[in-house]
Amino acid sequence: MKQMRSFGTRGRLYPDKHYVVPRSEEISDFINRIKEGKYIVLFAPRQTGKTTFFRFATEQLTNQDESYFPIQLNFETYKNLSSSDFYISLYREICKEIEKVLQSRARSSSAETAQFLLDQSIVDHVSMREFFENFTDFLSMQEGVRQRVVLIIDEFDGIPQIVVSDFLHSLRFIYLSDNQRCIHSVGIVGIKSITQLNYDRSISPFNIQDEFNLPNFTLEQVQELLSQYTEEVGQSFDQEVITSLHKQTAGQPFLVNRAAQILTEELDVPKSDTIEMEHFAEAHAQLLEERNTNIDHLLTNIRRDRRFEKLLMKIVSNSNRPGVPYNLDNEIIYELIMYGVIKKDSNRMCGIANPIYQHHIVREFYNEL
Ligand SMILES: Nc1ncnc2c1ncn2[C@@H]1O[C@H](COP(=O)(O)OP(=O)(O)O)[C@@H](O)[C@H]1O
Ligand SMILES: [Mg+2]
Repeated sequence: MKQMRSFGTRGRLYPDKHYVVPRSEEISDFINRIKEGKYIVLFAPRQTGKTTFFRFATEQLTNQDESYFPIQLNFETYKNLSSSDFYISLYREICKEIEKVLQSRARSSSAETAQFLLDQSIVDHVSMREFFENFTDFLSMQEGVRQRVVLIIDEFDGIPQIVVSDFLHSLRFIYLSDNQRCIHSVGIVGIKSITQLNYDRSISPFNIQDEFNLPNFTLEQVQELLSQYTEEVGQSFDQEVITSLHKQTAGQPFLVNRAAQILTEELDVPKSDTIEMEHFAEAHAQLLEERNTNIDHLLTNIRRDRRFEKLLMKIVSNSNRPGVPYNLDNEIIYELIMYGVIKKDSNRMCGIANPIYQHHIVREFYNEL
């Protein structure tokens, strides 16, 4: 019997275990850019669905066309490594990923591949480029068709400061090399943008980047997510619940799932009843009360700098119209956007990202008084 799915709020999402917004349009946009050989960057706050999105998109691409060879890395734990330790770990991870992909494609030639990987090494950014050149040639010969390596790096901000510039220079060098690049396309995913990582230099070595934007869920996407539950369980949501859920969370992926989780698992509404506004009011009250990872991050971030408080209070106070203009050159505004605390309003002013955050922010700073 098929296992019932649930709303995922912790760790990785699996389509057979969790309800999932397919984000099909965004995925096909992304896949097109990979095919065009773009070097894509996506910098967005925590818990906006970056990791999930890149995993699904990469999977879809390689199911569509096996001439794309994905290598997915994660730099989360590399921050304090020396340059040589970084490249040692990097090479180990690359080898693991290559084996994984070959296994999933049920390739039998693994003895040769294992030997090839043993014979190679990566010790710095130059040998990294040489490795990918050799690997693409080797792989293309094995497969009989030109293979296009796609390098996806999650949590890129974890890259050690000492290697970031050379590492990006190497990628840029590969990008600008003629016709058949040894890395066809790159996806760099993180929270801090590259210029912020490289703050000691005024110019980023990575000015070839194609920026990708992963918006919050639209009302339709929230509807779609909830309807997966309704189809499976038979319990429906009052339309007003769906619009309120979208409004209160502004489609923030984690908050949407957490709200749905409270409504469907924690309130004990009989499965034969429709989920109504009175239930939503309860779930909403709980979301405002509870501490979860998302709210913890929010509070940690707004406490980082005393100047945040002043700006945030100016944004939330109604008496202070016309508010705070949305200005990316302002360092404080820029940082709060990076943390997902504020966003651009319809009238080009700063607004708090969603009503739930607004509530927590007001409480945080009024408590201090
Ligand atoms: N496609 C999706 N469908 C449904 N929920 C999602 C989706 N993507 C992300 N989420 C929600 O957002 C949370 C964080 O997703 P994740 O991909 O780990 O974000 P990030 O990598 O940006 O931190 C998930 O636990 C889930 O609650
Ligand atoms: Mg992630």
